[in-house]
Amino acid sequence: MQVSEFHDSRTCIALRPDPTRRAGPAAARYTASRKQQTTNREPAAAARFTVVRSLSMSASTFTLSAEIRDYLLRTTVRECDTLAALRTETARLPQARMQISPEQGQLLTLLVSLCGATRAIEIGTFTGYSAICIARGLAPGGSLLACDRSAEWTDIARRYWQRAGLDDRITLRLAPALETLATLTDGPQRSTFDFAFIDADKQNYTAYYEQTLSLLRPGGLLAVDNALWSGRILEPERSDEETLAIRELNQQVGSDPRVTCSLVPIGDGLLLVRKNAD
Ligand SMILES: C[S@@+](CC[C@H](N)C(=O)[O-])C[C@H]1O[C@@H](n2cnc3c(N)ncnc32)[C@H](O)[C@@H]1O
Repeated sequence: MQVSEFHDSRTCIALRPDPTRRAGPAAARYTASRKQQTTNREPAAAARFTVVRSLSMSASTFTLSAEIRDYLLRTTVRECDTLAALRTETARLPQARMQISPEQGQLLTLLVSLCGATRAIEIGTFTGYSAICIARGLAPGGSLLACDRSAEWTDIARRYWQRAGLDDRITLRLAPALETLATLTDGPQRSTFDFAFIDADKQNYTAYYEQTLSLLRPGGLLAVDNALWSGRILEPERSDEETLAIRELNQQVGSDPRVTCSLVPIGDGLLLVRKNAD
């Protein structure tokens, strides 16, 4: 039986095939037993990791075939029980597809930790999945400012942040994001953030881009979700406000001398933008 291990700042996990499930790619499922836990914030039952299964209402990586995505999920994506439970609860909402995919969430955690980020900001929180992924990657003492205008959806987020033991790392700002950003860009917080994630109303994407760029320190990283817009970005007949705004931002970022970028075809397309040193 193959056993793999991985480490993050909070847990040390051993992954094992679950003998109670049918063999074969479609049925393969791996459960994780906890060998050690460095925090007592997350209840024991919630500290287990499970290799991800798709939920029909859940977001995925649309550029991948079902088989390749299944392989990717089985082999390298590990989702803790708290995130899995949040994904299941969110899947009951009609807006469930707004949530980022598990493979994208794992990438966010990795990117945040590679940046050594202590200060992060998120525009568009919904039920809190991406916020957990970002907060998990922060260096000790780090904090995430999560911006959203929906009390209903962020009430769910708060419950899961507490369950994940991350509520002391995440501050929620409940207001239209442009207002929140205006208060930050006008003050001493300019150029102080290490990481930013934009995943809110697409019409405001170019405004969010300019404002978050001014909040990032040189060398800081911005990730923008939905950059491929399920392929609608390429459909010439699409001229709705959202599609136009995403096209405009991709064009702008691609030729912006202030940044270095890469559009990664994961999830619905993740545009990664590093703010260059002056
Ligand atoms: C795509 S969802 C975010 C998904 C989230 N990142 C996740 O992975 O679960 C978009 C969110 O942006 C919020 N939003 C939309 N327009 C907004 C605005 N003008 N100001 C603040 N939040 C806004 C919505 O309430 C919604 O929760």
